Amino acid sequence: MKVLVVGGAGYIGSHCVRQLVAAGHEPVVVDNLVFGHRKAVAPEIPFYTDHLGNVDAMRKILSEEKIELVMHFAAFAYVGESVEKPLKYYDNNFIATLRLLEAMLAEGVKKFVFSSTCATYGVPPSLPIVETMPQAPINPYGQTKLDVENALKALAHSDGLSFAAFRYFNAAGAATDGSIGEDHNPETHLIPLVIDAALGKRENIKIFGTDYDTPDGTCLRDYVHVDDLSRAHIAVFDKLATPGTGCFYNLGTGTPYSVREVIEAVEKVSGKQVKIVEVERRAGDPPALYADSSKAKSELGWKVEFDSVEKIVETAWAWHSAHPDGFGD
Ligand SMILES: NC(=O)c1ccc[n+]([C@@H]2O[C@H](COP(=O)([O-])OP(=O)(O)OC[C@H]3O[C@@H](n4cnc5c(N)ncnc54)[C@H](O)[C@@H]3O)[C@@H](O)[C@H]2O)c1
Repeated sequence: MKVLVVGGAGYIGSHCVRQLVAAGHEPVVVDNLVFGHRKAVAPEIPFYTDHLGNVDAMRKILSEEKIELVMHFAAFAYVGESVEKPLKYYDNNFIATLRLLEAMLAEGVKKFVFSSTCATYGVPPSLPIVETMPQAPINPYGQTKLDVENALKALAHSDGLSFAAFRYFNAAGAATDGSIGEDHNPETHLIPLVIDAALGKRENIKIFGTDYDTPDGTCLRDYVHVDDLSRAHIAVFDKLATPGTGCFYNLGTGTPYSVREVIEAVEKVSGKQVKIVEVERRAGDPPALYADSSKAKSELGWKVEFDSVEKIVETAWAWHSAHPDGFGD
């Protein structure tokens, strides 16, 4: 299938592009490179440096490339910044997505796969999180993703759009051949930050809160390998064959790891010790977030290949230790 990957030069999108090629599909990438890396996408893949909210540009690409399905990874994803600058987030994550959908419908492209997030749940009433739980985001970032989810439901009804929205937990890891991996600037994700400390690129790693009601007092999160995430995006294609289908799936391993356990995994894999600094809790950090992904497993046959944080860290370590400056751009 001919697939437009919007945000395909970013972390998860670039891994998905490779999985699409491996599965025999033909990806075409749109990315304005505000955060992405041109080098994360093989030179032979068609690449357009455009803003996804540019309706004319998107219409032209959709029609000239004969696109059948759009995967949408592009967004701003810094929770703290979204609280400081909500307009920036509503504009890029919500309004621009509406423009992309407008372009798709104008060109008769009605299959859509969307990167949503566990942040749409806010603080869950119980764990693990299932898709039917109430969604009550506690920051504008999560709200913009929920707003898109709701727009998709309306468009499935009004225009026969078929969509899947995947609510990712914590994406992590890198391609197993070490050729691409995570390179965010600034980086806020725990595994690359701990690896930076192991590589001596930062002095220490801060643990925000050691008095949570969790086994070792630090927050619990659900780390899911970026290639496992990508495979779910392809496994859902059959579902989208029926016009007007809308589906939501959690994507996580279901096994939570604490901040301390992640640090220990990096120390074990790298053979290096990391200096820890314990500081106060951060506002808005729920003690634990982890997924029940049984819906994706039963409906899509989705299987997690990287079923421990150590396996995920091994791939991340291979990438970061070989590319201490990321893509170097
Ligand atoms: N990384 C995670 O753990 C995680 C967890 C939950 C959800 N998500 C969601 O998954 C998606 C991908 O995350 P990521 O970590 O790969 O992010 P990323 O920043 O690495 O990738 C996003 C890409 O989108 C591009 N982009 C942003 N705005 C654009 C625009 N207006 N036009 C064209 N391109 C634009 C950026 O240049 C970048 O390459 C995001 O939507 C994010 O909200 C990520």
